[in-house]
Amino acid sequence: MEDNRKRPTRRKFIRQTIFTGAGLVFVSSLASTLSQAKDSKKMARIFITGSSDGLGLLAAKVLLEQGHQVVLHARNTKRKADTLKKVQGAEAVLIGDLSSLEETKALAGEVNKLGTFDAVIHNAGVYQAPAEQIFSVNVLAPYILTCLIQKPQRLIYLTSDMHLQGRPKLEYFKSDIQQINYSDSKLHVLMLCKAVARKWKNVYSNSVNPGWVPTKMGGVNAPDDLQKGYETQVWLATSNEEQAKVSGHYFYHQKVGRSNSDADNVSLQEKFMALCREITGVAFPQ
Ligand SMILES: NC(=O)c1ccc[n+]([C@@H]2O[C@H](COP(=O)([O-])OP(=O)(O)OC[C@H]3O[C@@H](n4cnc5c(N)ncnc54)[C@H](OP(=O)(O)O)[C@@H]3O)[C@@H](O)[C@H]2O)c1
Repeated sequence: MEDNRKRPTRRKFIRQTIFTGAGLVFVSSLASTLSQAKDSKKMARIFITGSSDGLGLLAAKVLLEQGHQVVLHARNTKRKADTLKKVQGAEAVLIGDLSSLEETKALAGEVNKLGTFDAVIHNAGVYQAPAEQIFSVNVLAPYILTCLIQKPQRLIYLTSDMHLQGRPKLEYFKSDIQQINYSDSKLHVLMLCKAVARKWKNVYSNSVNPGWVPTKMGGVNAPDDLQKGYETQVWLATSNEEQAKVSGHYFYHQKVGRSNSDADNVSLQEKFMALCREITGVAFPQ
């Protein structure tokens, strides 16, 4: 005869079995979600130009806090020492004055000695400087470094909303560089970004307008949010969100913005790339 007292226990057992089974399914699906989350949080290795100060340094600090591996860059040994006082945990601080073509080429060699990177942020820039320096640092240096550094998965170029007033002025590249101003240089870097996006289909190449923010360049009275000024670069360099895994776009605060249509003109892009090749002696690897 069946012991009635045991029935509830057996039912409880069956319920427990069903529950435990569901629990196992739940635990196993949780484990898989966690492992996917861990995968999606895969740490990246990032090189940032001009990371001795301003937005480059701030982006580097955030990336290091998030556990990424970061290689910094300063113009000389003095600035390297200053940088090391401001940030801890970077893999290395490389040196190179981007106003010099030779130092820029040598810097690319130093980057390559460290191996490949997941992302490179072309951040270094000058604003109130002689035209030659604006052209070398803001235009030729990102071109040279893009060509010579082993291809990363992601490239991020710092431009500015001032590029909207910029003009290509390609006719002056070899004849009268004094005609090139900051706005033009930021249009040129956007042309580079879009040409790279078109040529390297397996790389995410995007540009960022950080807003007018209070750095050494922006000045203390700059009205925009400093944090938002570096968040987009960090996001484009590391995020697995679909919106960050795009190419050929111009971003402002993680949203695609309106850019100068000259940057999308393929014929202008090609002339620009050919002139950069001629002036630097460095060819863009197809
Ligand atoms: N701040 C803004 O409001 C604003 C607005 C639009 C776009 N942007 C763009 O955002 C980027 C970062 O600007 P930021 O505001 O952070 O400027 P920043 O505070 O002046 O910092 C610029 C960085 O570039 C480095 N750099 C400049 N010339 C160099 C050279 N010849 N060789 C090596 N490194 C050099 C600087 O080194 P030192 O520290 O040694 O000078 C510094 O690390 C720039 O491309 C800029 O055009 C800024």
